[in-house]
Amino acid sequence: MKVVVIGTGHVGLVTVATLASFGHEVVGYDIDQDKIDEIVGGGSPFYEPGLGDLLDEGLSQGRITFTTDPAKALTGADVAMLCVPTPTGGFNAVGLDLSMVQAAVKTVATHATGPLVLVEKSTVPPGTGDRLDQLIAMYAKDKGITVVSNPEFLREGQAVMDTLQPDRIIVGANDEASHEVMRRLYEPQLIAHPCPYLATNRATAEIIKQASNAFLSTKISFINEIAALCEVVGADVTAVADGMGHDQRIGRAFLNAGLGFGGSCFPKDTLGLDAVFQAHQVNAPIISNLSWSNDEAKSWVMRTLDKAVMALGGMTFAVLGASFKPHTDDVRDSIALFIVESLLDAGAKVRLTDPVALPKAKAVLEDYVRDDHLVYCESAQEAITGADGVILATEWPEYADLNPVDMARWMVGTLVLDGRIQWDGEAFEAAGLTFYQVGRKP
Ligand code: UGA
Repeated sequence: MKVVVIGTGHVGLVTVATLASFGHEVVGYDIDQDKIDEIVGGGSPFYEPGLGDLLDEGLSQGRITFTTDPAKALTGADVAMLCVPTPTGGFNAVGLDLSMVQAAVKTVATHATGPLVLVEKSTVPPGTGDRLDQLIAMYAKDKGITVVSNPEFLREGQAVMDTLQPDRIIVGANDEASHEVMRRLYEPQLIAHPCPYLATNRATAEIIKQASNAFLSTKISFINEIAALCEVVGADVTAVADGMGHDQRIGRAFLNAGLGFGGSCFPKDTLGLDAVFQAHQVNAPIISNLSWSNDEAKSWVMRTLDKAVMALGGMTFAVLGASFKPHTDDVRDSIALFIVESLLDAGAKVRLTDPVALPKAKAVLEDYVRDDHLVYCESAQEAITGADGVILATEWPEYADLNPVDMARWMVGTLVLDGRIQWDGEAFEAAGLTFYQVGRKP
C-alpha cells in the first residue's frame, strides 16, 4: 500500500520507519525542506534510539522517500496519516492550536488523486474526526476521502519498539470500507507481532487515546501524592508502590514517584481533556485536578530547599538532567528545566548537564544566560565539581551509577536532592552528604 505520513516529527518519523519495515511504500511529507534534507542526509531532528537504523534500512530498500511536494506525496496514496503537532494555544474551547491539522487536511484534500483513508494520529480532542469530515466536505467533496482515528501510544525513548510491537492497535472508523483498508495496512504487522486489534467507532478511538494518557497521568500523580505522605510518616514510597503493584488490578507500571510528569503529551493532554469536559459542561473532578496535583510534585525541589537552607542567593547547584525523561533529547515541558528556571529566579547559580539534551535546553534557556549564573557542563563530574548542592532531575542511567564518595570529594557543600529515587540514601549519608529523596523522610 502507498502511505503518506504528513509531518516528520517524533510520531511521524517513527510511523514512516515502522510502516516501511512491514513492506509498505511510505512517503514522509513535510513543509520544512531543511528538516527533510537533514533526514535524507542521515541526520535526525531528535534523538530516538533505533530510529536511525530503521530509517536507513527503509531508505536503502527504496521503501521510504521524503518530499516537500504535496502532489508527489499524495498521488496514488491509499492512506494519509496526520502526524502534525497540536501545541497548546489556539482560539478553540479545548485550548489546542489545531491550525497545522487543518492545513494538513487541506493539503490532503487538494492533492489526493482518488479515494483514501485520512488517519488522525496527532493527539486531538474527541470530536476532531467530525470536524475533519467538515473540512473534507469543503475541499474535496467527491474524492471519497474518509476519516479514521488510529491513535499512537508510543513513548519517546522507546518509540520504535512501542510501535513495532504495541500492546494494542486501536482503529476507530464510522464505515466498514475504512476499517477494511486499515486491516490491510496492519495485516503484515499483526502477522509478525500479534497483538489485540480493536475496531471501534471513531469517537471511541479518540476517547481511548485521551483516557489512556489521563489514566497514566493519574497513576503518576497518585503515587506522588502518596510519596509526600511517606516523607512525613517515615514510609518508603518505592516499597509502597511495589506492595500496591503486586495487586494485578493495580499493576506496578507508572507508579514511580518523582518530580511529576513532563513532556509534550501528559501536561498538555490533561489540560486539553479538562477543557473538553468543561466545553461539554460535564464535571470531572479527578481529571480537572491533575495539573494541580502535578504542580505539587514539580515543586518538590523548591519545597525541600526551603527546608534545607536559609537562602538560595550565592549557592551553586549541579542539576543532573535536562530532558523530560531519560533516553530522549526532548525538553518540552521538562521538569528539569522548570527546576533550573526556579533556581535561577531565586538567585542561585546552576551548573546543568545532560548526556544528549543540552543543545535543546540551551535554546529554551536562552534568556537565562546572564551574569554567568547558568553554566552548561559536558559531564556530571564537571557539573558537580564546586557545587554546594546536587539535584538529580532526570534519571539517566549514568547518574544512578555515580559514587557518593566521589561526589562528596567534588562538591564544596553537602546537599543532595534525589528527585527520581535513583540513589541509596544510606550510602550518601555514609559519605557525609545531606541527603533528601522524594518519598523518604529526611
Ligand atoms: C506518553 C505515553 O506514555 C504514551 O503512551 C503516549 O503515546 C504519549 O505520551 C503520547 O501521547 O504521545 P511520553 O510522553 O513519551 O509518552 O513519556 P512517558 O514515558 O509516558 O513519561 C511521561 C512523563 O511521566 C515523564 O515526565 C516521566 O518522567 C513521568 N513518569 C512516568 C513518572 O514520573 N513516573 C512514572 O512511573 C512514569
